[in-house]
Amino acid sequence: MSSYIIEGGRKLEGEIEVSGSKNASLPILAATILNKGNTKLYNVPNIHDTKITQEILKYLGCKIKKNSDKIEINTKKVTKKEIPEHLMRQMRSTVILAGAILGRFNEVTFSYPGGCDIGSRPIDLHLAAFKFQKPSFLNSFSKLGVNISEDSGFITCKCDKIIGTNIDLDFPSVGATENIILASVYADGTTKITNAAMEPEIVDLAKCLNKMGAKIEGAGTNVIKITGVKKLNDVSYSVMPDRIEAGTLLCAVAITGGNVKLKNVIPEHINQILAKLEQIGCEIEIEKRNIYLKAPKKLKAVDIKTMPYPGFPTDMQSVFGAMLTIAKGNSIIIENIFENRFRYVNELKRMGAKVSVEGKIAILKGVRRLSGTTVESTDLRGGAALVIAGLAAKGTTIVRKIEYILRGYEGLDKKLNKLGAKIVVKEE
Ligand code: UD1
Repeated sequence: MSSYIIEGGRKLEGEIEVSGSKNASLPILAATILNKGNTKLYNVPNIHDTKITQEILKYLGCKIKKNSDKIEINTKKVTKKEIPEHLMRQMRSTVILAGAILGRFNEVTFSYPGGCDIGSRPIDLHLAAFKFQKPSFLNSFSKLGVNISEDSGFITCKCDKIIGTNIDLDFPSVGATENIILASVYADGTTKITNAAMEPEIVDLAKCLNKMGAKIEGAGTNVIKITGVKKLNDVSYSVMPDRIEAGTLLCAVAITGGNVKLKNVIPEHINQILAKLEQIGCEIEIEKRNIYLKAPKKLKAVDIKTMPYPGFPTDMQSVFGAMLTIAKGNSIIIENIFENRFRYVNELKRMGAKVSVEGKIAILKGVRRLSGTTVESTDLRGGAALVIAGLAAKGTTIVRKIEYILRGYEGLDKKLNKLGAKIVVKEE
């Protein structure tokens, strides 16, 4: 386990570029399995989660070539239809590969996925969508026609042919929406998802698949239609910028009272984040794919409620939480997506934050300043929150278990150092 050693109290200033999106890269890497040829991907961030996904692709039989920021994936020789348990456990998004393998071979075996402990994170919606139900006149909501069996923790999904159907999701799950899209690309007929997730990463996945020759309409709205096609073609595709990394970098600058030009952002993807940053007193200007932020001397309190997109993203909740510990006044955060996403709060309290948590509600009473101490990452975004807190704290903050942070942020320490932070990595 490694640590970041952060010398707090330095104002961040300058310009920095956002990397490619983790949450778009993962389903797009999975989508390459569907194209029985060559896919060139650009702007895939070099982080733990994309590396694990590529490890699984190689295990399945994909040939992968890397060249500066290009990844070329050839899936012609893929024959394996199962995902090994030790790789499956590395992160939750491995479950997305199931939809792609099922879509290509009409069969897949996998175990329950792992990932950050931020709540129970079941996969019932994914499985319910795949599940076999005999079509009947009364049952217009028959699912994709897949037989699902479970044996010693391994789930096998199998069918002769995936049949397009109507799927009404109980909750707009990002992963389940992506899995249904991936499983339906070669289906017989049309699959219609209602109450689909509307996240920009789903639009990016659909754009990449459509460029390959798939027929997906409505991505970005809550009704998505996938009409099965017979074959896909080779493509080059550049993954969208990471909106959560963009938000994290803006918060890092804001908590230090600094200013920044953030490059390679799609501003409309982070509308909610920008609105909250304005409410806490930051001045923001948008110029095409650049965002300029100038922070006030003292941040103001604000209330936050996480919601599915286009609401405020749960992935930004902890980072805002860290900022609000030193804002003027009291803030309330309501976490509506994951029940276990306040674990970072106990670490912030060690730094002097005044926060009380009751179920899905946190009440933050702004203090004048945090004090540096040793804290431990609890999950990916919780770890990033501790880094943000450390940037503004008095003295030195040691953030342990940065492996969590490395899952999802490409060179966070280097980017912040470029803006004037002083973060050193200590290997343990
Ligand atoms: C994705 C993102 C993650 C983000 C989350 C919500 C990726 C790789 N990860 O995760 O960063 O925090 O969206 O925006 O894109 N649920 C069920 N049953 C299911 C599936 C989900 O109950 O079968 C619940 C979850 O427990 C959670 C909620 O639905 O409470 C949202 O989960 P979901 O949208 O599926 O998130 P992920 O796709 O896991």
